[in-house]
Amino acid sequence: MIKRIHHIAIAVEDLDDATGRYAEQLGLPPGSREDVTSARTRAQFFPVGESRLELVAPLGDGSPIDVHLRKRGPGIHHICLEVDDLEAEVARMRAAGMRFVTDEIQTGAHGSRIIFVHPKSTGGVLIELQQAEV
Ligand code: CO
Repeated sequence: MIKRIHHIAIAVEDLDDATGRYAEQLGLPPGSREDVTSARTRAQFFPVGESRLELVAPLGDGSPIDVHLRKRGPGIHHICLEVDDLEAEVARMRAAGMRFVTDEIQTGAHGSRIIFVHPKSTGGVLIELQQAEV
C-alpha cells in the first residue's frame, strides 16, 4: 500500500545558494543535510508537514543529478512515495508491467531502502518508492 508522499526532490546546481533562498525567501526552516554516496548526491531536507522538500545537488561530474542538470536544468527531479511493504509493491508493479531504473532495491538517504520506477512507466516523472520505517 502507498501511504504518503514522503518527499519531493528538486535538483539544484548550488546547494548552499538554493538552501539560502528556500530558507530566507520561501520561509522554510532547513532540516538535516546529508551526503548520499550511493547516489553521489548531497541533499538538504526541509520538513513540510508529513512530507518534506529535498534539494539535491551533484557530488561530482557524471553523477545522476549532474546528468539531469545538464539535460534538463534545475527543477523537480523525483517524487518519493512511501510504501508499507517495498518488496510486495515492487512485485505487484512489475506484474502490472511497470519498469524500474534498477533491478535491485538500493540504499538511499538515512539508510532507507528505495527503488526508482522508470519515467517511461509514469508519464515522464521519476518516482521513488521508499520502505516505511517500522
Ligand atoms: Co528521494
